[in-house]
Amino acid sequence: MEIENNNLTDKVCMVTGATSGIGQVTAHALAEMGAELFLVCRNRDKGEHTAAEIKNRTGNDRITLLIGDLASLAEVRHIAQSFLKHEKPLNILLNNAGVLNFKQQITVDGHEEMFAVNHLAHFLLTNLLLDQIRAGAPSRIVNVASGAHMLIKGINFDDLNFDENFRTLKVYGHSKLANILFNRELAKRMHDCGVTVNALHPGNIATGLGMQNGWVGKLLQPLMKPFLQSPEKGARTSIYACVSPELEGVTGRYFSHCQETQPKEWATSDETALQLWEISEKLSGIVK
Ligand SMILES: NC(=O)c1ccc[n+]([C@@H]2O[C@H](COP(=O)([O-])OP(=O)(O)OC[C@H]3O[C@@H](n4cnc5c(N)ncnc54)[C@H](OP(=O)(O)O)[C@@H]3O)[C@@H](O)[C@H]2O)c1
Repeated sequence: MEIENNNLTDKVCMVTGATSGIGQVTAHALAEMGAELFLVCRNRDKGEHTAAEIKNRTGNDRITLLIGDLASLAEVRHIAQSFLKHEKPLNILLNNAGVLNFKQQITVDGHEEMFAVNHLAHFLLTNLLLDQIRAGAPSRIVNVASGAHMLIKGINFDDLNFDENFRTLKVYGHSKLANILFNRELAKRMHDCGVTVNALHPGNIATGLGMQNGWVGKLLQPLMKPFLQSPEKGARTSIYACVSPELEGVTGRYFSHCQETQPKEWATSDETALQLWEISEKLSGIVK
């Protein structure tokens, strides 16, 4: 794997969920390689703290915050518009932000929050930025999915909010299955325009994921920590997918441990991927 010597000084990268865990480490690595960074964060203070830390450690001060909550489709549109105002091509989009809720939470738009943030927000953001991404070709879209997609055997089209039978890991896995199916359909649509689209599982990593779930969430992390890897290890596959020369022209794949691997067969259905795409277009307001 040859990724360390990349010079990204002429590249513009956007990272969602850069204030913690895997996204923060990846953003740091991209800055280290000289990229201009746009960091999508919902919390301005955390965003400023992250940007200051990256600037201090790397000397790279080409960092712009795009503030917005991915749990609101209006804010996703605002994030995209804020980027468009800069009139820049986008070379690397890392769709990384994610949430894991122990209880059903419904967003301002009426969607279950894990599906809304993990899938729908990134579906909309990516679609709104496609012209800039095409303009940045050769460019890369990287979707941070998860091995948790294996916990549920299909998209719950009849009840996307899981009003019936909400089970944390199933609903989280469902949103991550949506990431892989989105990846599949998007790769097809980007075929032949110099834009590659790949998904990945980062490993089982000690991050802030799930920590916002009250005292149970906070307790879980120290209990699980001995079985989890560091965010630095967790970011390796994301960094690999974003910048490795080995992956030039490689698209529509799924990676784990910096190697291509196969997701479960229900994550490889073209029919389901298209059906999810069409529903997501309606739910996100791209198509009325
Ligand atoms: N950790 C693992 O073992 C593991 C395994 C497989 C896949 N993943 C995936 O890896 C990705 C990164 O997660 P992580 O483990 O690094 O978790 P994390 O430390 O909790 O980081 C999640 C990031 O997403 C941001 N975020 C969450 N909800 C948001 C919202 N509504 N609007 C804007 N930003 C939001 C968080 O912002 P705040 O800082 O403001 O909370 C944070 O920056 C996720 O897609 C996750 O599903 C993780």
